[in-house]
Amino acid sequence: MSKGSKAAGGGYVKSYGCQMNVYDSSRIAGLLDRQGHAAVDTPAEAEVIVLNTCHIREKAADKVFSELGQIRQIKHERAEAGRPLLIGVAGCVAQAEGAEILRREASVDFVLGPQSYHRLPEALEKARRGERPLFIDFETDEKFRDLRRSDGGLDRGKVSAFVTIQEGCDKFCSFCVVPYTRGAEISRATPDVVTEAERLAGAGVKDITLLGQNVNGYRWEGRDGVWTLARLFERLSAIEGLERLRYTTSHPLDMSDDLIAAHRDLPKVMPYLHLPVQSGSDRILRAMNRRHTARDYVALIETLRAARADIALSSDFIVGFPGETDEDFRATMRLVEEVGFASAFSFKYSTRPGTPGAELGDQIHETVKKERLAELQGLLDAQAAAFNANCVGRSLDVLFEKPGRHDGQIVGRSPYLQSVQVNGPNDLIGSTRRCTIERPGSHSLFGAIEQGQGGEARN
Ligand code: 5AD
Ligand code: SF4
Repeated sequence: MSKGSKAAGGGYVKSYGCQMNVYDSSRIAGLLDRQGHAAVDTPAEAEVIVLNTCHIREKAADKVFSELGQIRQIKHERAEAGRPLLIGVAGCVAQAEGAEILRREASVDFVLGPQSYHRLPEALEKARRGERPLFIDFETDEKFRDLRRSDGGLDRGKVSAFVTIQEGCDKFCSFCVVPYTRGAEISRATPDVVTEAERLAGAGVKDITLLGQNVNGYRWEGRDGVWTLARLFERLSAIEGLERLRYTTSHPLDMSDDLIAAHRDLPKVMPYLHLPVQSGSDRILRAMNRRHTARDYVALIETLRAARADIALSSDFIVGFPGETDEDFRATMRLVEEVGFASAFSFKYSTRPGTPGAELGDQIHETVKKERLAELQGLLDAQAAAFNANCVGRSLDVLFEKPGRHDGQIVGRSPYLQSVQVNGPNDLIGSTRRCTIERPGSHSLFGAIEQGQGGEARN
């Protein structure tokens, strides 16, 4: 929108970590744009650089400091050339270590925690005056209010989009920093979510993923009663043009009956669920403060499958939590065998300062963590490959999102979130076609559009 008014240089946002950060990064880019800093592709072209950081594991947090080292170099070169460069650190590392960052890195001009992005214009102004502001208060209400003002210009032409509807976490898993960096659980007002979804649908978006650290714990009290995620899905299902609804990420304890029923009753709710279990050992689950057993999880999956037989499951796993024995790890492998996942993320336990897990003795040796991770990933990869191989010969509805790598190819997603490539014209982007899956690739499927579907997009 900034055309012409202010002669400011470009804005560059680098995103680390989860989907939530990807979404926040697009909002930060939007705010920068409104300040006259239109998005540029590289740090070298930018006048403002914002690193939107992740604190979930040690490696992710370390990356920020190494990146700042490189940016410092650009800043020195700029200073010599008399061209200004402002550097901001946003996200969860900003929240957890903001003061430390300002102390350690003289090149950082401002720090913004995840609840303070609406204060970016103010931060830029202060930074220009050399004040080095640190905005890390919990103000989620304000942030959600600000999101309502976004103009949506950035969403044009996109087929799928994210919408944050919930922030923070009250679960306090003993390994996790999120309750400390993102604060208590809070849900965005339903009417605001509906308005944003309608605006996205109006701009051509067909597939919306609702985001939150505990998105299935969504709960908003309106004058017309309590809005759960299931009720919200019912409302969003009525929006014309929207074809697919997804959500991530969820906690097993919040997988309520009405949400399970939504998977059965609402055709727009896609048959895909990311439901982290972390471990298959009850002893470790207890130590992790997950508040459910491995059996509870498996039983929940059975209920979900009874509601929607073809639901594809995804999960997160941690290996090498303090005190994890070989037997505990075997229990995780058994759970994976029993459930069968379409995709998954698995991590070595990483000690996070300030979490209860960091205080535990019996830390697991790095070599053991590595071995367990490799074994678990071997099994999960095999399950993902089997899931894809099972789709060969089936007819799946594919929503096309973008041109493929080669001319004449287009790429879309199956209901199960698999990437599907077919030969087809670019003007099918944004519409859904039934496709026969012909063969699996390493990370995607190859298929062919079935004939005789007319010119109209399917729902
Ligand atoms: N160490 C390793 N993995 C972690 N996760 C969260 N905290 C840690 C940690 N300290 C993983 C969990 C979570 C995912 C987002 O990141 O599996 O579900
Ligand atoms: Fe972290 Fe557990 Fe909350 Fe997920 S549910 S954000 S793992 S504390």
